[in-house]
Amino acid sequence: MTVKLTVLASGRGSNFGAILDAIERGELDARVTALISDQSAAPALERARAAGIPTLVQSCRKADKPAFEQAVTEQVQQSGSDLIILAGFMRLLSADFVERHAGRILNIHPSLLPSFKGLDAPVQAVEAGVKISGCTVHVVTADMDAGPIIAQAAVPVQEGDTADTLAARILVEEHRLFPAAIQTYSRQLLVGA
Ligand code: GRF
Repeated sequence: MTVKLTVLASGRGSNFGAILDAIERGELDARVTALISDQSAAPALERARAAGIPTLVQSCRKADKPAFEQAVTEQVQQSGSDLIILAGFMRLLSADFVERHAGRILNIHPSLLPSFKGLDAPVQAVEAGVKISGCTVHVVTADMDAGPIIAQAAVPVQEGDTADTLAARILVEEHRLFPAAIQTYSRQLLVGA
C-alpha cells in the first residue's frame, strides 16, 4: 500500500529531495501529496514544483501558527495523508497540533538523540568533543526532539572536524536513513491500521 505524505520544509530541502529520489527508485512506496513551507524562498519549493507536487507557503511565526497548523490539518484531511514529514522544518508545532496527529508526525534531527537537541546540533557535538554523532528519525511529540526513536545512524567525528564538515557527513546518512525509516514506519502504520 502506498503511504501518502505531507512534507513540511523550511529551507534547502535536501532530505525532501532524498525522499523523492527514494520514491523514484522504488525503495520507498510513498506519494507526496504536498510540500508545505513557511519560507517563500525555500529551495524545497522549487524541487516540489519541478516534480509536479502541490505546494503551499504560509507563515508559521508565533501569531500565524494557528492558521498555519489549520492549513496543514486541512491539507492532510483533504489528501488523506497518512504521515506528516518534517524535513528540515524549523518551527515548533503546538501541543494541540501534535496531539491531533499523534503518532503520525516524523522528524529527522542531526544528532544521536537524546544528545544535542535543538538548533545547531553538529556545533553542539563538536563543542562537546564527542567521538561519535549521527542522526535520528523520531516520532514528534509535544516536547522538542524527544519523541520515540524510530531509527538512528552513527557518524564518527574525525580529527579536525568543524561543525560544517561533520554536518555534511551526517547529512549523507540522513538522506539514506529518513526514506528507509519512513518506509519501515509506514508499513507498521498501514498494516496495523
Ligand atoms: C537537516 O540537517 C535535518 O536533520 C535538520 O535540518 C536539516 C535540513 O536540511 N532537521 P535539508 O533542508 O533537508 O537539506
